[in-house]
Amino acid sequence: MNRPSHAAFKISTASRLASARPRDAAFYQDPYAFYSALHLRTPTFYWEDYGHWCFAGFKEVNALLRDKRFGREILHVMSREELGWGPPKAHTAAFYLTEKHSLLALEPPSHTRLRTLVNRAFVSRHVEQLRPRIERLANEIVVGFEADGGTELIKSFAAPIPAVVIAEMIGLPAEMAPQLLNWSNRMVQMYMYGVTHETELDANQASIDFIAYLRDVIAERRRAPKEDLLTHMLVADPVDGQKLSEDEVISTAILLLNAGHEATVHTTGNGVKTILESGIDPQSLFATPEQTEATVEECLRFDAPLHMFTRYALSDITLDDGLSFKKGETIGLMLGAANRDPVRFKDANRFDPFRTDGQNISFGAGIHFCIGAPLARIELQTALSTLFKRLPGLRLASEPRYNNVYHFHGLERLDVTW
Ligand code: HEM
Repeated sequence: MNRPSHAAFKISTASRLASARPRDAAFYQDPYAFYSALHLRTPTFYWEDYGHWCFAGFKEVNALLRDKRFGREILHVMSREELGWGPPKAHTAAFYLTEKHSLLALEPPSHTRLRTLVNRAFVSRHVEQLRPRIERLANEIVVGFEADGGTELIKSFAAPIPAVVIAEMIGLPAEMAPQLLNWSNRMVQMYMYGVTHETELDANQASIDFIAYLRDVIAERRRAPKEDLLTHMLVADPVDGQKLSEDEVISTAILLLNAGHEATVHTTGNGVKTILESGIDPQSLFATPEQTEATVEECLRFDAPLHMFTRYALSDITLDDGLSFKKGETIGLMLGAANRDPVRFKDANRFDPFRTDGQNISFGAGIHFCIGAPLARIELQTALSTLFKRLPGLRLASEPRYNNVYHFHGLERLDVTW
């Protein structure tokens, strides 16, 4: 028998069907109520609103992200006709040009080649050198509003740090950060549920402008190379002579800018909210570098910024539990839900920065595991510890509300006082 459901969702345990409307505020303001019910009743379920199977269990999400029978790309093994997709839309051509060479849209062998060439810049020992710069930046930003007694923290603090860091790392001027954010925000609208024609046009225009800007900077770097990631991506690897094409460099720079700030901004905002709501003395959370690391990991687990990624079945597949997928079918892997799986985490719905029971899955797993994870971790450790150390009296000025974008789980505003 089915138990009564929360108003924002319905679950039928026997048929493993669930419905929850991604644009319904009652749902996206608190997707965890849905996740708790799923964990109790059917962590593997068919999500009617999306029209595909989804997985909320930690073990399943972790295994499927690593399962090579599923991939992010499908057009390398099936045609658009076979998929029933129809021809590509002309008015989104520029957007899809940036996607064509995106690490996130490729599978091996193209993915392996591109990832190897980009990865060197993101390994921990390399990004660790950026820590002093990030500390300086976080301090300067807080000094800018410290005397005001209150601020809207997403705009004044959470957003500028990752945007400036990734822009500088690529080799673009920090003053361009607001413009880069504008292009990037308009482009990522394409990944949302229920994209409209206007959104497509706007995302495409942002892509056209972003590409044109990068082509100009690339031309400059070819004339006068610098010590930055853009120059590094343009020259051949000294060991094997491999090189990225100009379109690959543009796709990668855009992906890094898009992926490199949105999730970090949201984790900063969600983390501040979680800490302030927990009632735990923030000073105890940042007392040592080890505790700071643990606090950031728990923020990432407790209120992840990215809640669902999809994969295509690359062949006809039957899973161990008997569930079958036809080649080309989509599945949803629910990172935000997996992080709250009671089978995996003790008191999964409790924020506990002193827990020792293992890693969250907010950065994914397998071949697409977040290339920016070491950088994001440094940014979050620095941003959160600087903020709470400089403003020990920090408190919420109003109830924070999440954006109407289920996949990108982040706050609209975060008004605080001190
Ligand atoms: C808290 C911050 C972040 C979170 C939670 C996050 C999360 C993720 C996740 C879950 C994926 C895998 C998606 C999938 O498997 O389909 C991913 C991939 C990726 N992320 Fe991040 N990310 C963050 C920050 C960053 C930063 C700072 C950068 C770059 C500077 C970055 C660059 C990338 C790239 C390039 C990929 C694609 C990797 C590939 O396909 O091989 N991310 N990220």
